[in-house]
Amino acid sequence: MKVRYLGHAAVLIQLQEKNLIIDPFINDNPCCPVKLKDLPRIHYILITHGHADHFGDAVKIAKSDGATVIANFELCSYVARHGITTHPMHIGGKYTFDFGTVKLTPALHGSSLIEKELPVYAGNPCGFLIEAEGKKIYHAGDTGLTKDMELLKKENVDIAFLPIGGNFVMDLWDAVEAVKMIQPKIVVPIHYNTWEVIRADPERFKQEVERLQIKCHVMEPGETVEL
Ligand code: NI
Ligand code: MN
Repeated sequence: MKVRYLGHAAVLIQLQEKNLIIDPFINDNPCCPVKLKDLPRIHYILITHGHADHFGDAVKIAKSDGATVIANFELCSYVARHGITTHPMHIGGKYTFDFGTVKLTPALHGSSLIEKELPVYAGNPCGFLIEAEGKKIYHAGDTGLTKDMELLKKENVDIAFLPIGGNFVMDLWDAVEAVKMIQPKIVVPIHYNTWEVIRADPERFKQEVERLQIKCHVMEPGETVEL
């Protein structure tokens, strides 16, 4: 499979038959090097929570590509009014799709969409544990550090996408603690340097992670890794 980082928290996963996108913040994402029109056909859109920097272009992609939205029940109900196909799930739940499995993991954060300047409830925020083509991908979503991450160690995660930008999510030091608990094969820092308020040094994070004998790949927005 090919895994492409699109900046902020957006990740594109290209499998043999299906393309998945997590947190498709594309057109308004100052770090994303591509626009919607440059993406391959998307079959599944996974959304960690309702905030605009994650929900992004989900509705547009779902409409143009006929993609299925995988998210918590409340977010799915929200997008379903647009005539979009959804697969509602919730934290702790796992389901087998035609490409592999998805499990929703806990995230310590908020989840809402803004309508008429007021927040609309969008369910519990989550992370995703995806298993496909024999590989396990963990995308933490937006979260603070939580002991629950210890439970991910037994999953033998191949690649973990962890926020390091602070303010709304873990800073790099808390993300290092998360790495100690999760023990993934590769770590990729996300959710930093999109805006001044989430400034972080990914090279410092890499230094700390590699002290733990764990590989850290600082992916440039647009960069692809093959798993
Ligand atoms: Ni958020
Ligand atoms: Mn965010």
